[in-house]
Amino acid sequence: MGNRLNILLIDDEPLMRMTVQDALESEGYRVSVVETGQKGLALLRKDPFDILITDLKLPDLDGLQILKEVKMTHPEIQVILITAYGSIDSAVTAMKEGASDYLTKPFSMDELLLIIQRLVRIKQLEEENLRLKEKMEERYGLEGLIGKSPQMQKIYDLIETISQTDTTVLIQGESGTGKEMVANAIHFRSLRKNGPFVKVNCSALPETLLETELFGHEKGAFTGALRQRKGRFELAHEGTLFLDEVGEVSPAVQVKLLRVLQERQFERVGGNETISVNVRLICATQKDLKEEIQKGSFREDLYYRLNVVPISLPPLRERREDILLLTEHFIKKFSKKMGKEVSGISEEAQNLLLKYPFPGNIRELENMIERAIALLKGRIIQVEDLPEELYGQQPIIQEICKKIQEPRPLAQAVNLFEKEYIQSILQKTKGKKGQAAEILGISRKTLWEKIKELEIEI
Ligand SMILES: Nc1ncnc2c1ncn2[C@@H]1O[C@H](COP(=O)(O)OP(=O)(O)OP(=O)(O)O)[C@@H](O)[C@H]1O
Ligand SMILES: [Mg+2]
Repeated sequence: MGNRLNILLIDDEPLMRMTVQDALESEGYRVSVVETGQKGLALLRKDPFDILITDLKLPDLDGLQILKEVKMTHPEIQVILITAYGSIDSAVTAMKEGASDYLTKPFSMDELLLIIQRLVRIKQLEEENLRLKEKMEERYGLEGLIGKSPQMQKIYDLIETISQTDTTVLIQGESGTGKEMVANAIHFRSLRKNGPFVKVNCSALPETLLETELFGHEKGAFTGALRQRKGRFELAHEGTLFLDEVGEVSPAVQVKLLRVLQERQFERVGGNETISVNVRLICATQKDLKEEIQKGSFREDLYYRLNVVPISLPPLRERREDILLLTEHFIKKFSKKMGKEVSGISEEAQNLLLKYPFPGNIRELENMIERAIALLKGRIIQVEDLPEELYGQQPIIQEICKKIQEPRPLAQAVNLFEKEYIQSILQKTKGKKGQAAEILGISRKTLWEKIKELEIEI
């Protein structure tokens, strides 16, 4: 609602109509005037108005009646009532019925203008609020986790609940789905947030190293152990220990882990002293641990100890509504980081992203956008800025297959396919046969022959 507000005035006094119209028009508002309630209502049904000013006493209708009708049919229209001097009761009734304000006769044009300016301001604030709220809802996320899909909303709820407890959490999900981010979110929302957050990637270390890394060692425990060293469990005391890729842990270390979980106690490698720790454990794995149990490579008892609260992160392809939200987030992130002005991504490119299955999940999308922005010349990410596998020939082939899906002899289907495919490549090259032949891997002569034989139109 800018200055070009549409205002309707209903008043039976010609002088009043003229004065108000002049005053409001000279402020830049668009004003329509009518002299009866019926005409006013007819106009309200036809044209959009922001504000209605009406006299309470009209020859044909009661101003209150008009107010009620307008509030029912167009609740967004602000109504200002003009009452006669001394009729304070009707003014109160009017406000109760939803009038935005009232004026008592006689009133000055300044009074009227002040009321209108106030209404405009309120409306602007309301609109601004709504925009902000929409933005917040759209951006709904937690500790940097982006996503508004129902699956992610459930995960946010779960994170909020369990971060208030000390239970062990097992996060499962494909590569790049955000397991580490969720672990971070749990720690930094928990009561332990001021304590240490220690991470260990179990797949990065060979068995013996992992053991000393987790539990520490005493001086002389093995050749080269010149000093006593504290392990990650000890370092995480009063905080959180995040064991990433826990599915990779060897059977020997699994036994030790089980003991810590049961007794909250352990000994350093090569030592006898029993050490007690107060640690919250969060584990993550890409592997299906149930399958590993069946294969005999993961202890069932340990699994149940770790899986007190399971969080299963959905792959990106199962929550497509988050793809563009994440894309926008990464565009902002990387354009800022690289100091480039990027205003967005073309619709065509968006459609490609929406169709792509993202085997590498959010990390893959993130890398894609980072690369696109690094190489970007313009301001908008286009299809060509995305990796080729997104716009390779796959979609064309699928489309053609759809066209010829009716059952028919193979030779006929092959011919049809050939025709459609060559035609689509010719379209892509805008009829340039040299280029088309190159893409198709055939000579120009062969292409010509095919065009004739298959009756391809160019
Ligand atoms: N919901 C999300 N919102 C924003 N960024 C995300 C989200 N989920 C993941 N990411 C980003 O995607 C990348 C991968 O996330 P993360 O490392 O947490 O995944 P992961 O499941 O641990 O992957 P991997 O199994 O490969 O270790 C990170 O750069 C992270 O910042
Ligand atoms: Mg990870």
